Amino acid sequence: MSATLATVSYIGATILFILSLGGLSNPETSRRGNLYGMIGMTLAVVATVFGPQVTPAGYAWIIGAMVVGGSVGLYAARVVKMTQMPELVALMHSLVGLAAVLVGYANYIDPAASGMFQGVEKTIHEIEIYIGILIGAVTFSGSVIAFGKLSAKISGKPMLLPGRHLLNLAGLLVVVFFAWRFINTHSVADGMTPLIVMTIIALLFGIHMVMAIGGADMPVVVSMLNSYSGWAAAATGFMLNNDLLIVTGALVGSSGAILSYIMCRAMNRNFVSVIAGGFGTEGGKPAAAGSGGEPAGEVVEILAPETAELLRDAKNVIIVPGYGMAVAQAQHTVFEITQFLREKGVNVRFGIHPVAGRMPGHMNVLLAEAKVPYDIVFEMDELNEDFPDTDVAMVIGANDIVNPAAQDDPASPIAGMPVLEVWKAKTSIVMKRSMASGYAGVDNPLFYKENNRMLFGDAKKMLDEVLAALKS
Ligand code: TAP
Repeated sequence: MSATLATVSYIGATILFILSLGGLSNPETSRRGNLYGMIGMTLAVVATVFGPQVTPAGYAWIIGAMVVGGSVGLYAARVVKMTQMPELVALMHSLVGLAAVLVGYANYIDPAASGMFQGVEKTIHEIEIYIGILIGAVTFSGSVIAFGKLSAKISGKPMLLPGRHLLNLAGLLVVVFFAWRFINTHSVADGMTPLIVMTIIALLFGIHMVMAIGGADMPVVVSMLNSYSGWAAAATGFMLNNDLLIVTGALVGSSGAILSYIMCRAMNRNFVSVIAGGFGTEGGKPAAAGSGGEPAGEVVEILAPETAELLRDAKNVIIVPGYGMAVAQAQHTVFEITQFLREKGVNVRFGIHPVAGRMPGHMNVLLAEAKVPYDIVFEMDELNEDFPDTDVAMVIGANDIVNPAAQDDPASPIAGMPVLEVWKAKTSIVMKRSMASGYAGVDNPLFYKENNRMLFGDAKKMLDEVLAALKS
């Protein structure tokens, strides 16, 4: 493929990626967005493999790598459950980071690549390598820890080292000092020491940064690492002199940064304080301990037939899904209940919290999969005022996102986070298996409210029972 054709293909792929991002901003156009992304990526890969930068001698390596990578990807796509998607995404971010580190080292060691530049150009190229490896290493180790936290292999409790801000600052100063030394070395062998020291510090910083973040703030970290992986890819693009990688990386980096900002707003957090860590210091206590805005008390249980009765008699129902709905895979039954009630004239709507579940848009994906119409799915802000006029608020496997302590208890680790005010409905019903706390590990005073009922059990099983009772 000629260089011109490759450039044209790159421009085509860039346009498709931008269209893809535009499509993904709305559930109704998201399928189209995905399709644009897939076509764009195919075009990009084909144009790169057959482009002028690859010699025929490299084909065997590329085919080998594609077979191995493609098989792993196919296998993962088949076996990974929807609930494991956030962990998988974190793992993929780590691979982007690792790739940036490896490309950086290879680029530095490769005599053909390093010999191409002289004078100022050489300095710029070395800065690209240094920054690329730095971002890549932070992304890699941070994402591995995020994977551990999201898959509960590592505790969600923040690890707060004494003097952690000073430690980070010292690390930064050392990295800057070694950057100066790296740029002023005259041989590859001399440059390796500063590069390796910086890589180790960057890896430790990534671990420290994510370990210090509390459970409730993980959404910000996930989107932030998404952003970092984009910048790592852009840095790789600079090192390899590949325009498409630079543009694509910048698109991912900036959209991830916007998502982090949205997540921060959703959690009512300041971005810098989230990164500094330390929120969510309370770890995994059972809700019954009651450190919320009011003392823990009695909970009132309800069974499926009574739940069905309340729903049948209601005019307005709001369903609030959370992580438990994803675990139970209850979305299809939720939709069947919704359809049944709507046919009986009940106004059923869904309230989606921006950080419900374990990844951005988690609930929207599940509801779309179950074919719930988009026009009855609302964002938290669009619906919160309507709870006082709602007969039944049905909480399905959600916990932190409906916790009144976020509003009432300034000492709560989730204080200030906007929540869906389900307790303002005439009756709220919380469907979960036990009194255990949610991801943030904090008590939920909602369970003890007078107008709240607890429907204990697996969400899918309980909803099946509710549906059967509705139909009987
Ligand atoms: P959570 O607060 O984690 O609560 C989920 C609840 O579902 C749990 O209390 C659990 O109680 C229940 N549950 C689990 N399996 C169930 C099943 N099979 N059937 C019925 N219930 C089940 O979830 P949420 O309310 O969606 O809030 C999300 C939390 O995750 C927030 O703290 C958020 O910050 C954090 N987070 C979000 C993201 C993103 S980007 N969305 C990423 C990382 C972390 P039982 O064990 O008693 O059943």
